[in-house]
Amino acid sequence: MKQDLIVILDLGSTQNTVIAREIRSLGVYSEIHPHDITAEELKGLDNVKGIVLNGGENRMVDGQAVEIRPELYELGYPMISVDYPQSECEKRFDELPTQEELKSFIFEDCRAEANWNMKNFIEDQVELIRQQVGDKKVLLALSGGVDSSVVAAMLIKAIGQQLVCVHVNHGLMRKNESESVVKVFRDELHANLIYVDASERFLGKLENVADPEQKRKIIGGEFIRVFEEEARKLEGIDFLGQGTIYPDIIESGTKTAKMVKSHHNVGGLPEDLKFELVEPLKQLFKDEVRACGVELGLPHDMVYRQPFPGPGLGVRCLGAITRERLEAVRESDAILREEFTKAGLDKKVWQYFTVVPDFKSVGMKNHARVFEYMVIIRAINTVDAMTASVEKVDWEVLERITNRILAEVEHVNRVCYDMSPKPPATIEFE
Ligand code: XMP
Repeated sequence: MKQDLIVILDLGSTQNTVIAREIRSLGVYSEIHPHDITAEELKGLDNVKGIVLNGGENRMVDGQAVEIRPELYELGYPMISVDYPQSECEKRFDELPTQEELKSFIFEDCRAEANWNMKNFIEDQVELIRQQVGDKKVLLALSGGVDSSVVAAMLIKAIGQQLVCVHVNHGLMRKNESESVVKVFRDELHANLIYVDASERFLGKLENVADPEQKRKIIGGEFIRVFEEEARKLEGIDFLGQGTIYPDIIESGTKTAKMVKSHHNVGGLPEDLKFELVEPLKQLFKDEVRACGVELGLPHDMVYRQPFPGPGLGVRCLGAITRERLEAVRESDAILREEFTKAGLDKKVWQYFTVVPDFKSVGMKNHARVFEYMVIIRAINTVDAMTASVEKVDWEVLERITNRILAEVEHVNRVCYDMSPKPPATIEFE
C-alpha cells in the first residue's frame, strides 16, 4: 500500500467523518473503525501511523460508557483523544482539534507522509482488485449513475475483459442516457458490456398501476429479475462489483454511531446466486468518488451529474404511466437540462427536473380548444437531501424554458414552477 493511515476509533462521536475528511484534506489517508477493534485487527491494517480516539454524545450504549480495549495503549502508536474523559493519552482534547493541532499530531507525532491522492488510491485499489479476483470474472450492474460508472472504470482498469457489465434500460431513463452509457463504456472504454433493452417489459408491468409505492416495488423487483436472468446466462462468475461508498457504510452504524439507514447492497438477489463482493469505492466520500472518476478518465458530465432516482422517470410521470406522458417528461426534462446548462445553472442548482401529472387542463392551440397535460418544473438546493429550498430561477430563463416546452413537447399546454420547500413537500413527487 502506498498510503499512510490515521485510524479514527469511534467512541460515539457524531463528528467522525468531519475529522476523517479534515485529515484526508491534509493529504493523509484516514479511516473510521469501531471502538472495540482488537490489537490484532489494528495491526492487520496497512501503514497505521497514529490513532484518534473520538468520543462524543453517543458514548453510552445500554447504560454503559464504551471504552477502547486497554491493550491498544501498549501498541506504541501515537494517539490523541477528543471528548473522551477516560482516555489514557497524553494529549487530550475536549473538542475538535484545530487544523494546526491536527497537523502537528499527524506530521510531527505520527510522522505520516501526505501521500493520499487519487493516483495512489487507484494504484492501490487496482492491485487489491487483482489480488482478490485473480483470473475470475466480476459482474456489475451498470446503471450509468456516478458510483456504478466509477466502479466500472476502476474494474476495467484492473481486470479489463474479466469484468462483465450489464446495463438494464428499464425504459425510464432520461433522453439519450442509455445510449451514452453504451458509447462511453462499450465504444470508448471497450468494456465487456451487455445491453438489455427491457423497456417494453417494464412498461407492460407498470400498465394501469397508479400507486407510487406499488410502482417503485415493481420497478425495483423487475430490475432484480432482469439482472438475475442475465447473470444466470453467464458462466463462471464469482464476484459482484458494487458501488458502495463510505457514507453507506458509516450510515449503517457502528456500535456507537447512531444508525441512519441500513446499508443494503444489491438487495433481493436470490440466495442461490452466490457472489463475493468487490467494492473498491467503499472508503470514499462522494466528492472523492467523483475525483476518482475524473482521474480514471470518465467524462465530466457523467461524473458530475445530478442525483437521479433508481426508478427513474417512472416517479416523475405521476400516477399510472402512459407512453404519451412518459415522452412528455423525457422531452421536457431534456429541454430543462439544456437551458439550465446554457444559463450556467447546471453548476449551481443541486437537482432539477420536470414532472407530468396525470390530469389535463383546458387550453387553446390554433384558435381551438385543447384538453392537455401540464409540465411542472422543480429546481431545488440541498446539502443532504433531507431538507431542500427552491432555487429562485431567473424569470427570463423560466420564460425561455416554458416557451420551448410549449412549442416542442407534444400533448402539453401548460407549464408550472413548483415553489415548495422540503418539508413539507419531498423533492420527488412520488
Ligand atoms: P425525496 O423525494 O425523498 O428525495 O425528498 C430525496 C433524494 O433522493 C432521490 N430519490 C431516490 N434515489 N432511489 C434513489 O437512488 C430512489 O428510489 C429515490 N427516490 C428519491 C431524489 O431524487 C432526491 O435527490
